Amino acid sequence: MWFVKGAKSSTSLSRIGERATRCDDERVLFAEPARVAQLDRASVFETEGWGFETLRARLTNTPHEPTHESDHESDHEPAAEQARVNSHDGTPVNVAANCIEAVERALTRTPDRELAKAVVQLSNLYTTERGKLAREQSSAIHLAAKSEYFLASDAPKVALALGECVARSDAFARLITLDTVRITDLGAGVGATSVGFIAWLANARAARNITTPLRLDLHAVELGEPAARAFTESVRVAAAHCEFDLALRIEARDFKSIAVEARDLLLCQTALNELLVDATHTRETIAMVTRWANAAPLLLVEPALKGSTRALMALRDELLLAGGMHVVAPCLHQQPCPMLARHDDWCHEARRLERTPRVEAIDKIVGRRDERALFAFLGTAPQACASVSQHVTLRIVTDTLGSRGKTERLVCRSDGEMRMMRLLDREEREGNRLFLRAKRGAILSIDPLPENNRIAPEAMVRPAL
Ligand SMILES: C[S@@+](CC[C@H](N)C(=O)[O-])C[C@H]1O[C@@H](n2cnc3c(N)ncnc32)[C@H](O)[C@@H]1O
Repeated sequence: MWFVKGAKSSTSLSRIGERATRCDDERVLFAEPARVAQLDRASVFETEGWGFETLRARLTNTPHEPTHESDHESDHEPAAEQARVNSHDGTPVNVAANCIEAVERALTRTPDRELAKAVVQLSNLYTTERGKLAREQSSAIHLAAKSEYFLASDAPKVALALGECVARSDAFARLITLDTVRITDLGAGVGATSVGFIAWLANARAARNITTPLRLDLHAVELGEPAARAFTESVRVAAAHCEFDLALRIEARDFKSIAVEARDLLLCQTALNELLVDATHTRETIAMVTRWANAAPLLLVEPALKGSTRALMALRDELLLAGGMHVVAPCLHQQPCPMLARHDDWCHEARRLERTPRVEAIDKIVGRRDERALFAFLGTAPQACASVSQHVTLRIVTDTLGSRGKTERLVCRSDGEMRMMRLLDREEREGNRLFLRAKRGAILSIDPLPENNRIAPEAMVRPAL
């Protein structure tokens, strides 16, 4: 087995390849040399997530195994994410995926090989040469990579994050039943976030058989004018596909200067990290996001990179200190983030998603195999949290970390504690098996909750929401 040491967000894969070394250090990203060669630069985000899984995994002689999760994709999905069933033949209809694919089809213009090249180039800029990124915003081929590839890969992340927020907060759940939904997309780019929102909303309404007309009042703020033009096209296709009545207002300006009006939801995906000059957000950014969080339900989505995610975790704590809002998800508590105290950890999602046909075709060309959507998110809502339950529940924040004779998973508990819990293979029973099967992000209760973190054979592990 070969290992790749210390993969950092800014480490290009060619450099990772050079540093491949045989070792048994726990703090490594592991890969066989052939696999390193296959990894494309578009997968650097994946590499980071992969590193996270392996940081604590005791490295054995087996490669990174698929987790139990992949075998149980449908376990404990929030209702709004469930596929609708076709009333004619009972087959599942994924309204959200259909919407994103409709946008993908409408935007397909660049030949696949050319697009694949542009995707690799843009990924390089995101991961190793961020300084150049702003100067390249208007490059036609990079815009094509954003519209024709990254849009369809990023849009579904919005649904995954909203699924958790809706399950835990009325401020988010009400979005599904409104006749008019007013949202603002901050740093809207070519529309991945707004398209993801439209697709999610159509899916959530379909899951509840809501067929009344919907008016979407969509306000987008985007610095780059070429991106703003592409945004118009993509959201129009999405809204038309879902038969939403779209009222669109796009402002080509800096979101730092906007006064947030009364909105049902504010969205900001992968834009805050562009303001980072250091490891943590500036006072100015914290004050700006505090204004947003106090004004309306807010969903922030950031790349799953260690640096940007830890900055988001620290921002979360600052927002709580400033007050006037509460954290809806992913955290089950309003305490300081316990993961921040662990220097090498970052709280991010790695969820399996079915890729759209074009994303799959481009992934094939660039050699990207990982189907997981990797991202970090924070959902907040105005006003302090009303009550805190005494009953401790926990959120699974890693995949299964298998080692000889046991499976471990890091959990973040509703009392603000982070624990590495384990289930010994010989103590696995029907009643506690959910600890192994639950998806990353699942909320569970364990009864009795062990003080020593070892789940007993007689313990009952149940979904808790
Ligand atoms: C990585 S893109 C993400 C776009 C979109 N949110 C998405 O998820 O696809 C970040 C976008 O934020 C925009 N942006 C960054 N800082 C901004 C600011 N201060 N005001 C407005 N837009 C900004 C950039 O122009 C860029 O289009």
